[in-house]
Amino acid sequence: MTKQLNKNIVVGISGGIAAYKSATLVRELIKAGAKVRVCMTNAATQFITPLTFQALSGNPVHTDLLDNRAEAAMGHIELARWAELIIIAPASADIMARLAHGIANDLLSTLCLASEASLHLAPAMNHIMWTNAATQANLQTLRQRDIKIHGPAIGEQACGETGAGRMLEPDAIVAKLVENQATLNKTLSLQGKHVLLTAGPTREAIDPVRYISNRSSGKMGYSIAIAARDLGAMVTIVSGPVTVPTPKNIDIIKVESAAEMHSATLAAAKSADIFIATAAVSDFSTKDIFSKKIKKTGEYLRLQLKQNADILSDVSHQFSHLFTVGFAAETHNVIKYARGKLKRKKLDLIVANPVGEGKGFDQDTNQLEIIWHDGQLSLPEKEKQTLAHELIAIIVKRYFQS
Ligand SMILES: Cc1cc2nc3c(=O)[nH]c(=O)nc-3n(C[C@H](O)[C@H](O)[C@H](O)COP(=O)(O)O)c2cc1C
Repeated sequence: MTKQLNKNIVVGISGGIAAYKSATLVRELIKAGAKVRVCMTNAATQFITPLTFQALSGNPVHTDLLDNRAEAAMGHIELARWAELIIIAPASADIMARLAHGIANDLLSTLCLASEASLHLAPAMNHIMWTNAATQANLQTLRQRDIKIHGPAIGEQACGETGAGRMLEPDAIVAKLVENQATLNKTLSLQGKHVLLTAGPTREAIDPVRYISNRSSGKMGYSIAIAARDLGAMVTIVSGPVTVPTPKNIDIIKVESAAEMHSATLAAAKSADIFIATAAVSDFSTKDIFSKKIKKTGEYLRLQLKQNADILSDVSHQFSHLFTVGFAAETHNVIKYARGKLKRKKLDLIVANPVGEGKGFDQDTNQLEIIWHDGQLSLPEKEKQTLAHELIAIIVKRYFQS
């Protein structure tokens, strides 16, 4: 199987006989590329041990809401943010009732209430419990809230009776999740839209052979450009000097200095719909560029630096029709600075990423906090290409909602 579920998935397990099947589900999800954390209700731990799931998922199993030690390691809110998808399998009649009524009286139900992740349920119960009017009313409420219900299957039940109530087999659940993911991807389209990006570092000349620059590789920006192109957008990158391969069907405008990037970007912004500023633009450039190579004199060399124009801020203030996305690479107080930048620079969305100590610049992986005016989402450390596809999906959703 290809890695079609490259996601952070919380597998919720509630108290039913079918809980033993969840062990296979966890294995299948990991095989499909998912990072899995397991959250069990108290009743579920009576059917199968947390130790089984700890061994299978490679992570501690979450069971208690009011446990100081567990909260200190990965609290329920962190877990809620970490999750990109939650699948409860088996979903008992009880957990369905609690979810339908917004009851948050244990870790799993609280987690579901606190998470923006897509929620999927694979119900499993005795067929009379399933057809009971209360369960059916809860089911309707959950469906109306766009909670995805997979199954149940009809067949022989653990109680010896036959009817609707068997949990779908783990491979069928995984297939449903993959299918759902594919539908989601199809509905994302940037057909007819022009996406403009800046990427890479800039170089500020000191003399004909030397310059001031930074460690940006352009990998993140180029990956996002490719992800936008794959969704049908016309894409232009105003690119500083990089060594990443030139992608097909993307217009590249090569520049060196921050001043060149500024004028090329403002010129291209007129026809763009979305602007994503991933470049690490030098904040300063030399006041005067020496016309000849500077010679060693044994003395201190003084360079005077002047502040460069702010490309992102100028674009967002001059082109209010644009959906503008900024990046905030910071070594500390990442989220605080990013929120400040979002407001100050009049952006629609900002992507904060910690840099330094081996993180961010010139690495193949990255970790992102995506912040907009009334929301925030974390994308944990992953390959930049995977992150780029997830990030562009979020940008597209927010663009069409704005
Ligand atoms: C042996 C046994 C099997 C059970 N199987 C199921 C089941 O398959 N589905 C279900 O909805 N409830 C089943 N129950 C009842 C649930 O365990 C009970 O409603 C419990 O409160 C569920 O809690 P939870 O939703 O927090 O996991 C079973 C109970 C017992 C004792």
